[in-house]
Amino acid sequence: MFFQRFIRTIMTTSEAVIAKKVPIPPKGVDYRGKVVLAPMVRSGELPSRLLALHYGADLVWGPETVDRAMIGTTRRINPRTGCIEWSRVTSNNAKKNVDEESVVYRLDPVREAGRLVFQIGTSDPERAVAAARLVAGDVAGIDVNAGCPKPFSTTGGMGAALLRTPDKLASILEALVQNIVPEYQIGISVKIRLLETPAETEALVRRLVATGITGLTIHCRTTPMRPRERAIRGQLKMIVDVCHEAGVACLMNGDVESRDHAQKLVEEHVTDGAMIATCAESNPSCFRTGPLADWKETVERYITYAMEVENKLGNTKFMLNQMIPGKVPVFKEMMTCKTFTQTCRALGFEHLMERAKETDEILGLAVKEVNQPKQRQPKGEQKSNKADKKRKRDNDEAHAANKRLVPKVAETREDAVLAENKITQDFSAEQPSQSAPAPAAAVAV
Ligand SMILES: Cc1cc2nc3c(=O)[nH]c(=O)nc-3n(C[C@H](O)[C@H](O)[C@H](O)COP(=O)(O)O)c2cc1C
Repeated sequence: MFFQRFIRTIMTTSEAVIAKKVPIPPKGVDYRGKVVLAPMVRSGELPSRLLALHYGADLVWGPETVDRAMIGTTRRINPRTGCIEWSRVTSNNAKKNVDEESVVYRLDPVREAGRLVFQIGTSDPERAVAAARLVAGDVAGIDVNAGCPKPFSTTGGMGAALLRTPDKLASILEALVQNIVPEYQIGISVKIRLLETPAETEALVRRLVATGITGLTIHCRTTPMRPRERAIRGQLKMIVDVCHEAGVACLMNGDVESRDHAQKLVEEHVTDGAMIATCAESNPSCFRTGPLADWKETVERYITYAMEVENKLGNTKFMLNQMIPGKVPVFKEMMTCKTFTQTCRALGFEHLMERAKETDEILGLAVKEVNQPKQRQPKGEQKSNKADKKRKRDNDEAHAANKRLVPKVAETREDAVLAENKITQDFSAEQPSQSAPAPAAAVAV
């Protein structure tokens, strides 16, 4: 009799623990049972997310976007693509005294519907709420970045700096839960790293899961660890237990290589799901089961999506750089291309040329098509004749005129990185910058 009652008590208790779940708001998503694309600055722009979804990612995180970068943007639907864009006018081109419109965040309301989580970089509850309000009606969740260790993030008190100020981090999450959840009916989550000791991590996780969040992602590295150091999974069980006691879904992140690998890890560590970053960056077909797709297939799909959504050429090339193996002959040629047309030609995608020309027109890159990618000339032929020089001057002038009408496009990886670094510096400062330049997706790792 006693034994039966004892068993019943244990079952009721464990069922209660298993069943406990912070309610998922009607327009939000449950992270349980999901393999998801990680937030990645530069690598998590819209075409990369669409590609991850195509290959089977259950949910996608957008790149961390700093609250100050979002505040002051205007939301518009791009009539050509149907995408929703948050943009701002910047005085980026100060030399030429020209204002330019720059897209800070872009999403696809159809293909990403119910599957996109917006990640915010913040160090202040009020700013976090103000920025979250701008997108909350268009996304399935808001996630707070509390794991970026880069100085540009931490000096602003954001990212991994929040791990050292748990009260501030909790107050940001509470403010989002109190203000965003009732109004927009989506959930709030957080992404953190391990602290130095299990006891410290446990205390932090206990504090965070009590704020009303629906999900927590643990990047299984400590703040000082380099990305190439293997993820540490020894604290996972404890973290999962604390999350489950509070009814919060727990995703694991760090060295997850594919859906098949994720499934094994999830079973082993009893997490609710897994998040993939670098493996998805180089080949997003890791989200399907079985072997990876050939790079040519993923690259063709990627560039098709990039053109469909009018992605910047600089960012597109940055991603191609991640996806194309460095040793294949087309790699170097592709890196010198200055337009989508040149890029598609270099990659042998003749069937995409019409679309590429249209995209070049829209993005103001068409004039560059006249200039073929630079090729090394034999020494004796290096001096260009006068006619060539004049043609180049005419093209440059036409291009400059075109540029005044269209958003600036970073043409090289260095341009993109420099622009993002500058944005980061401006938005990390405590005082808002009057001349804040165009944030692509300002900040962090
Ligand atoms: C290019 C790049 C950009 C990243 N940007 C972000 C970011 O915006 N927000 C964030 O929380 N983590 C960011 N991270 C960290 C990843 O989300 C992830 O936590 C980390 O790479 C570990 O996962 P992995 O071992 O699968 O790569 C970034 C990582 C990379 C490689």
